[in-house]
Amino acid sequence: MGRYLTLDDVEVAGKRVLVRADLNVPISSGSVEDDFRIRASLPTISRLREAGATVVVCSHLGRPKDREPEFRMGPVAVRLAEIGGFPVRRLDSVVGEEVEVSVAAAGPGDVLLLENTRFEPGETRNDADLAKGLAALADLFVLDAFGSAHRAHASTVGVADYLRSVAGPLLVEEVEAFASLLVDPPHPFTVVLGGAKVSDKLGVIKSLLPKVDMMLIGGGMCFTLLRAEGYEIGSSLVEEDRLDEVKEVLASAFGDRVDLPDDIVVADRFAADAEQEVVARNAIPDDWMGLDIGPKTAEVFAAAIRGSRAVFWNGPMGVFEWEQFRSGTEAVARALIDHPGFTVVGGGDSVAALRMLGLEREVSHLSTGGGAGLEMLEGKTLPGLAALERWADGS
Ligand code: 3PG
Repeated sequence: MGRYLTLDDVEVAGKRVLVRADLNVPISSGSVEDDFRIRASLPTISRLREAGATVVVCSHLGRPKDREPEFRMGPVAVRLAEIGGFPVRRLDSVVGEEVEVSVAAAGPGDVLLLENTRFEPGETRNDADLAKGLAALADLFVLDAFGSAHRAHASTVGVADYLRSVAGPLLVEEVEAFASLLVDPPHPFTVVLGGAKVSDKLGVIKSLLPKVDMMLIGGGMCFTLLRAEGYEIGSSLVEEDRLDEVKEVLASAFGDRVDLPDDIVVADRFAADAEQEVVARNAIPDDWMGLDIGPKTAEVFAAAIRGSRAVFWNGPMGVFEWEQFRSGTEAVARALIDHPGFTVVGGGDSVAALRMLGLEREVSHLSTGGGAGLEMLEGKTLPGLAALERWADGS
């Protein structure tokens, strides 16, 4: 899973510490809509400030094309200060003289938040000058952004070329949780996948199928699999260009571990107040679209989850934001908290669904990562973790 130093290996008192967190949260009308990632990053920031470090926090926010105001870090700074109970000084830039002056003027226990790292064009292309500019701000780099550790960007990877770097506590916790699913998970091990696109999950489906006992698939992505099995799917989501690959997976030695919905909640249009009906999977009407798994499938999936000792869930079973297409996702969420074993939930939508149902505290490990968790489960080395390795070797 990678070798790295952690905060336990370094002295931070009186040091300036640059923390790359993943504070990429949804913002609506100028305020943070869901602060899960900020809350998850808070223990690391608090630990550093209480240990006497000057804490310089940075993160990306969204995918800005330019420096659009809606991607500024203001709302994040406000929420971090609110839940942290300490002042957060928000800076207007990511690197440069003004930032350097502010950091130099700060003292032990102070927390500063840099502007959105993606406002710098060099961030996503891992530009060396930007990485050097970030490294110049601190004596130590803490990579704590598990959710962004699959991105080889200047603030996640590049900076580690120029500054002693360690893994933050959140990153370590996340990596260990995913590692325990990859290396000798308890059985039965069930994976539950949903969400819109099968293309996002084909890698993980292929790499996990040999390791799992069951793979339950719902959400928009299940219709490409049903189509590949020859069913008529009306106007449901389908990725035609993936049909051949999906057919191969289903015909493979482990294809029978995939369990697809037997019944579907279909709607006459994509709307919260659409007309809906429950139909068998071989009876989806023309021009109707599947927006949730049906009640019979929800029961089957829930029973499988309850009987498992390890479960990984990523992706809702339907359009859970709309009440009439929420039951499948709710059944999965409730079964997850009932089952006696280890559970990892990843992906913003699944975590949001659990939070909407007030169940998030009941889950063994709620991940701040979406893509990062999937890449780990695909067996890929996360570039962020790889960048920390050289420091573990003492170079
Ligand atoms: C995420 O939301 O998955 C991470 O913050 C990474 O964001 P990105 O997909 O825009 O790189």
